[in-house]
Amino acid sequence: MKKDYITTQDFTKEELLDIIHLSLLIKANIKAGYPLNVLYHKTLGMIFEQSSTRTRVSFETAMTQLGGHAQYLAPGQIQLGKHESMKDTAIVLSRLVDVLMARVQQHKTVVELAKYSTVPVLNGMSDYNHPTQEMGDIITMFEHMPEGKSIEDCKVVFVGDCTQVCASLMMMITKMGGHFVHFGPKGFQLRGEYLEIAEENCKVSGGSYLITDDADEALKDADFIYTDVWYGLYESELPKEERMKIFYPKYQVNREMIKKASPHVKFMHCLPATRGEEVTDEIMDDEKVSICFDEAENRLTAMRGLLVYFLGKKDETIEICNKNLGR
Ligand code: CP
Repeated sequence: MKKDYITTQDFTKEELLDIIHLSLLIKANIKAGYPLNVLYHKTLGMIFEQSSTRTRVSFETAMTQLGGHAQYLAPGQIQLGKHESMKDTAIVLSRLVDVLMARVQQHKTVVELAKYSTVPVLNGMSDYNHPTQEMGDIITMFEHMPEGKSIEDCKVVFVGDCTQVCASLMMMITKMGGHFVHFGPKGFQLRGEYLEIAEENCKVSGGSYLITDDADEALKDADFIYTDVWYGLYESELPKEERMKIFYPKYQVNREMIKKASPHVKFMHCLPATRGEEVTDEIMDDEKVSICFDEAENRLTAMRGLLVYFLGKKDETIEICNKNLGR
């Protein structure tokens, strides 16, 4: 039976670790200069209802590097939503490509695509979550793990508005058994179903979660500080000026905020960032603190791992990479 990647909640911690380790192995293989054509003659169909830099480019590059091909199906470029239903689109595209990804306005669209598609569907972001970002983020944390710590020991603080990236980070960290904090103003904090997920994950993993607007409690001993825009891809109920009044300056990641965290704290951002709003130039460009550009690069690391995994090439790929790398 085909598997889709719509939410990481559909996977166990062990399965997610499998994808993380596979992604890191492929990265090592490619960095060492060994070709890896495990997706030869495979085609990825990329449906975008919104613009994208990282998601689009990393998926397309991943397919090229692995010997396959990607087709960019831009907003308004295919019949979807106008002359053709999602059901028919899913059935037709399943006969034309080997795997699909979709960035959609509404989560139900990608769920429906997966329901009627007979090839794997990967969620390239919806208004509910951003699981390929999640995978790139956890890989980046593994690469920048504080000395002597594992993910289960880490405190990961998301600062600011409750976006789908905030929700996704919560899902991954609580699933892994880490300690997740959402430091945000009341009314803009994770709520509802997301808290049920956090609760459920922590019960299984031994992790913890905290939702707070108390800066000292949130930031104390933080290993990773993560933020996202205060406005953005999705319509918010409030005009930008109103949102600025709510978030600035308390929720801006700046030097003062960084000083409240652990001395080894790393700064993360899914990007694109609005410099001077949710984060200062000083922190974005601080090479000792900021790992947001490694994080952007690891979108590609994650896409390669995800594509290999969902196209059923995991074992073959591990064998080739281990042989190449003498492991
Ligand atoms: N972080 C992210 O998804 O970036 P894009 O919107 O550029 O794909």
